[in-house]
Amino acid sequence: MSTPLESPILSSLPRVTIIGAGRVGSTLAQHIAEKNLADVVLLDIIEGMPQGLALDLLQAGSIELHQRQIIGTNNYADTSDSHIVVITAGFPRKPGMSRDDLLKINAKIVIEAAKQAIAYSPHAILIVVTNPLDVMTYLAWQATSLPRHRVMGMAGVLDSARFATFIALELGVLATDVKAMVMGSHGDLMVPLCRYATVNGVPITELLDAAAIARLVNRTRNGGAEIVELMQTGGAFFAPASATTVMIEAILLNQSRLLPVAAYLQGEYGLKDVVIGVPCRLGLRGIESILELNLNETERAALSISSQSVQENIERWRSL
Ligand code: NAI
Ligand code: 2OP
Repeated sequence: MSTPLESPILSSLPRVTIIGAGRVGSTLAQHIAEKNLADVVLLDIIEGMPQGLALDLLQAGSIELHQRQIIGTNNYADTSDSHIVVITAGFPRKPGMSRDDLLKINAKIVIEAAKQAIAYSPHAILIVVTNPLDVMTYLAWQATSLPRHRVMGMAGVLDSARFATFIALELGVLATDVKAMVMGSHGDLMVPLCRYATVNGVPITELLDAAAIARLVNRTRNGGAEIVELMQTGGAFFAPASATTVMIEAILLNQSRLLPVAAYLQGEYGLKDVVIGVPCRLGLRGIESILELNLNETERAALSISSQSVQENIERWRSL
C-alpha cells in the first residue's frame, strides 16, 4: 500500500521523514507535529500501519491545535524533498539472536533506507537512531557518501538525559537544573563526563562522593538495558524520541546548540574513520562544528576504548 494520506492544510514549513514507524518513530512524529516543527512523513514496511498512525496523529492535531501535514506511506517516493530523514527502522535483539545477527539485519535495513531516502531527498540531513547506533551511523554515512556534517546519530542526548535524571534523583533536585554530557559510543563503554556535570553550575564532584558518582555512571551506562529488563516487551522510546526531537529542533531552528552527537571523526580527539559521540554544534547545515574538549588522561583513555569497540564492530560487519 503506498497511497499517502495528506492533510488538506499545506504549509511552507520543513519536512521530516521518519523511516520506521514503530515506537520511537511514531512518538517522534507526535513530538514534531505537536511542537509545530515540520510536516512529517512516516514510512514503514508494514502496509497500512504508517497510514493509520498518520491518520490518528492528524486527528489529534485538531485537539492539540497544530496544523502540520502528516503522511503515512510504504513508498519512498512520498518522502521526496525532506529536510531531515530519521532512520529508526530495525529490530531489537531477540532471544536466540546473536549480536552479529542483529548487526547484519539492521545494517541491511539502515543501508537500504539511507540510500533510498537520500535518492529522493538529496539535500537532507540524516539522523540515525537504529542500534547498534555508532556502527549504523557509520554505515549510513558510507552508503550515502554524504558530507560528514549531514550524517549523525542520536544517543548522546539520550544518555546525557539519563545521567542528568539519575543525578537529580540522587540529590533531590530538579532534573532541569542538572547539566550533563555523555560522550563516546552508545553502550557499556559510553563516557559520562563527571567533571563537567553540574547542578546550576555547581560541579557534582562538590555534591556527591566518588562512590555515588560511580554508581550513577554505571546506571547511566546500563540505562537502556534497565528499561528493557523492566518492560520485557521492548525498549525505551519516550526519552529516545524526545532526544531526537531536540536534535531536529536545533537543526531546523538553527539554534547552534552544543549537544553530544554521534559524528564521523577525521582526527578530532585523535580518532579517525569512526563514528562516536562528541560535543557538536547543531544548526541548519547539520553538524556546524565539533568541539574538542580538553579531556584528562582518564577521559581520553575511556574515549579511545569506546572508539576501539565501534571500530571492531565495523570490522565485524565487514567480515560477516
Ligand atoms: P520498533 O520495533 O517499535 O520499530 C521499528 C520499526 O521499523 C517497525 O515498525 C518495523 O516494521 C520497521 N522496519 C523494519 N524494517 C524496516 C524497513 N526495511 N523499512 C522500514 N521500516 C522498517 O522499535 P523501536 O523501539 O521504535 O526502536 C527502533 C530502533 O531504535 C531499534 O534499533 C532500537 O534499538 C533503536 N533505539 C536506539 C536508541 C538510541 O539511543 N540510539 C534508543 C532507543 C531505540
Ligand atoms: C536505549 O538506550 C536500547 O539504545 C536503546 O534505550
